[in-house]
Amino acid sequence: MPEWMKTTFGQKSLRATKHDRAIGPTGQPIVTLFPVQGFLGTGAPFAADFNLIMQLILGAALIAGVFFAKQKRFRAHGICQTTVLLVNLLMIGLVMWPSFHQQLRPTLPKVFHRLYYAAATIHALAGMMAEAIGLYIVIVAGTNLLPQWLCFTHWKRWMRAEAVLWSIVLVSGVGTYYVWYVAPFA
Ligand code: HEM
Repeated sequence: MPEWMKTTFGQKSLRATKHDRAIGPTGQPIVTLFPVQGFLGTGAPFAADFNLIMQLILGAALIAGVFFAKQKRFRAHGICQTTVLLVNLLMIGLVMWPSFHQQLRPTLPKVFHRLYYAAATIHALAGMMAEAIGLYIVIVAGTNLLPQWLCFTHWKRWMRAEAVLWSIVLVSGVGTYYVWYVAPFA
């Protein structure tokens, strides 16, 4: 394992699984609502395993939502995609934002030097964009809150763009999980 991995992965992931407190890459204790021990048998803590499973379920629900739209069941489509967006907002608030805040933000200036930070930073930035665009689509589609000039009319274009962006975020999230918790222990 290269030296930089020993400090970043080693401190966070190994201590997170072997002891009762998670420790961040800079040595600070990580405050978490969840138990520390993960359940997928990788080096990941519980919150990351839970988030990974939730994100795969949400991804499947989004695809189901696309099928609702293709069958012209637009009410079911709207309910499905809005629920995914809101549940994901909860996962961002409970798991991903705290992790981003505690582990990535302090190191952002040297971000692209290390795959460890680069993968998660690209993921987090694209994720914030996907969540913001998703909320914008829901507000335009389901409410009258915005003035006419702020509303789009090319529904399909916006929703397709959002679906592509979400897929990129999901894949980069799984990539982050691999780089953080699987590769160092392989
Ligand atoms: C918009 C949709 C999003 C999807 C589909 C998504 C998906 C994922 C997945 C599958 C993982 C791997 C599981 C894990 O390691 O926890 C992950 C991790 C992560 N995501 Fe996201 N994510 C999204 C948005 C965001 C946003 C907005 C942020 C920034 C605040 C973010 C920051 C992170 C971070 C820092 C991790 C690593 C968490 C850890 O393991 O400690 N993600 N994401």
